[in-house]
Amino acid sequence: MDLGSTQYGEKQVILDPTMAVRILAKKAMEDPLAFWSEQAKGLEWSKQWDRVLDWDPPFAKWFCGGLLNASVNCLDRHVSSETKNKVALIWEGENGDSRTISYLQLYRQVNRFANALKRLGVKKGDRVTIYMPMVPELHVAMLSCARIGAIHSVVFSGFSSSALADRINDANSRVIVTADGGYRKGKIVELKGLTDEAVRSTPSVEHVVVLRRAGNNIKMGPKDIWWHEATENVQNGCEPVPVESTHPLFILYTSGTTGKPKGVVHGTGGYLTFLHSTAKWVFGFKRDDIFFCTADVGWVTGHSYVVYAPLIHGVTEIIYEGAPDYPKPDRYWAIVQKHGATILYTTPTALRMYMKWGDSIPNSFDLSSLRLLGTVGEPINPEVWKWYFTTIGKGNCPVVDTWWQTETGGIMLSACAGLGGCIPMKPGSATFPVPGIDVAVVDEDGKEVTAGTKGLLVVRKPWPGMLLTLWNDDDKYSKTYWTKFEGQYYPGDYALIDSEGYIWLLGRADDVLKVAGHRLGTMELESAFVSYPAIAEAAVTGKPDPTKGESIIAFLVLKSGFAQSDQLNQELVDHIKRSVGPIATPQEIYFVNRLPKTRSGKIMRRLLRSIASGQPIGDISTLEDGAAVDEVKQAYDELKKTIGRDQTT
Ligand code: WTA
Repeated sequence: MDLGSTQYGEKQVILDPTMAVRILAKKAMEDPLAFWSEQAKGLEWSKQWDRVLDWDPPFAKWFCGGLLNASVNCLDRHVSSETKNKVALIWEGENGDSRTISYLQLYRQVNRFANALKRLGVKKGDRVTIYMPMVPELHVAMLSCARIGAIHSVVFSGFSSSALADRINDANSRVIVTADGGYRKGKIVELKGLTDEAVRSTPSVEHVVVLRRAGNNIKMGPKDIWWHEATENVQNGCEPVPVESTHPLFILYTSGTTGKPKGVVHGTGGYLTFLHSTAKWVFGFKRDDIFFCTADVGWVTGHSYVVYAPLIHGVTEIIYEGAPDYPKPDRYWAIVQKHGATILYTTPTALRMYMKWGDSIPNSFDLSSLRLLGTVGEPINPEVWKWYFTTIGKGNCPVVDTWWQTETGGIMLSACAGLGGCIPMKPGSATFPVPGIDVAVVDEDGKEVTAGTKGLLVVRKPWPGMLLTLWNDDDKYSKTYWTKFEGQYYPGDYALIDSEGYIWLLGRADDVLKVAGHRLGTMELESAFVSYPAIAEAAVTGKPDPTKGESIIAFLVLKSGFAQSDQLNQELVDHIKRSVGPIATPQEIYFVNRLPKTRSGKIMRRLLRSIASGQPIGDISTLEDGAAVDEVKQAYDELKKTIGRDQTT
């Protein structure tokens, strides 16, 4: 195929300034407000905005005075068009169940469930926590909240009951929507049981709506109501509530550098405008596309590119409930073949897994329906990129490596396959910012670094998809993202820009881990460890992992009176699974006498990371201010000895 461009490797790259993406990007830089105003017209508004942006740094209000409803943009506009009877969702259950749902059917289900929520007393601005497997009713629940102006807070179903309880309490949710269970690797995840445990410590919860999915035996209590009963005897139609553009559409909790996850709040008009545009530019949705995004809706990729963006565009999408290797290590390819997916959007972790299992597996499927491939969530190794391009795309599909975050709402850096082809791709680089996004790579003092130098990524202008704030914590919002470099958004990623302007993401600069693409905070894990009676101190870091990108490694100091043992080790693993979730299972646990710290008592994480990954630590006298060098050296030697001698788990 000729993208004028799909060659990758060492070839000299010449960028074509007449390319649609370059023209659009230039326009956006010259007059950002006019540009975004034009983009917002892609949505359906009940009332047009008065002002494109009120920018009171670091608080941005996009499309002020405008009124709209997210569910109208995802459903009503299609139901009154020829898209009405088109398939919206093709659902694949892990256990082989399958359903297709048209736009009209989805619209009807949303109307009825919105009425059910209303009957339970849910009003505009109320929070509803959703803790469900990947089933179409998850879309229904979210869109029903949006229809009546309620704010959804989806909690990934791989999180534990105590993680769920923390998130319910922070949001003060009145209603929980869950299911009896969901399938994962052939087992039923007992979501209702986990919800019951959580609800014991969440006083704000008045009702728990339970979908029957797995058919397992569960107990229904006084607050519980079955989904099918809640939607009985309700009216078919539910008037959508037009909300202000800045009205929160959802809260999504994500990990940062502190112990507690942060509630990232996204608005309605800005967020949806950004999704509408980025999906159009990056994926170039066409009428007959069948879009397969493998993300779980519990994470931001699921919110933005499984729920909102494809529905706004009226495309058909595939949603899959379970694991990529169940029942066999071919499930994604089987799904692509079965439904003729045209776009696949997945994670480097999934690709590394499939690559490890060998080419003969994907080669035994007909993948010729694919026209575009995408990745998200973590850096993609060039050899994995090439494998994706060659083995999966057969050299016919551009690969879009999309960099973004829960906080950014949508894709920030990526090739734009929807804008007249791809610029020449370089495996491992997310290429360029999408139109309207202004980034730079700077040093610790905020000064732009020269081409080819590693630095910190910053975003220099507000954009419509940016988070509104952190739930109930404007101060933390300012401090976390906008204080390190005054007036610029700090995402916490290392990056470099090469001599041709391509951006390369080089991992997190803070204490956030990306384990199999899942975002976890080291502090969050450390708090979980020290909540166990035997543990006095904990330091957690990431170690490079050939499949998962990173794995969790913990250094623990025991309280006196406790001794290390295999049993304690196992108890700690179980404790972490219970308190955070199975996704946080530590790969390695080391018991140590002390942790390397600065004089002011801060754990020297960089040093731990070097130890964990077997890298030299270099000159530690300059590592952190005020470090007691000898002490640190001793602690380091002890740790190294421990690691060499005593690998557990
Ligand atoms: C990382 C996921 C390299 C990055 C959408 C970011 C990536 C964090 C990429 C956000 C990519 C995401 N290349 N790194 N294409 N995409 N990241 O909030 O470190 O779960 O800051 O959002 O994932 O993770 P989050």
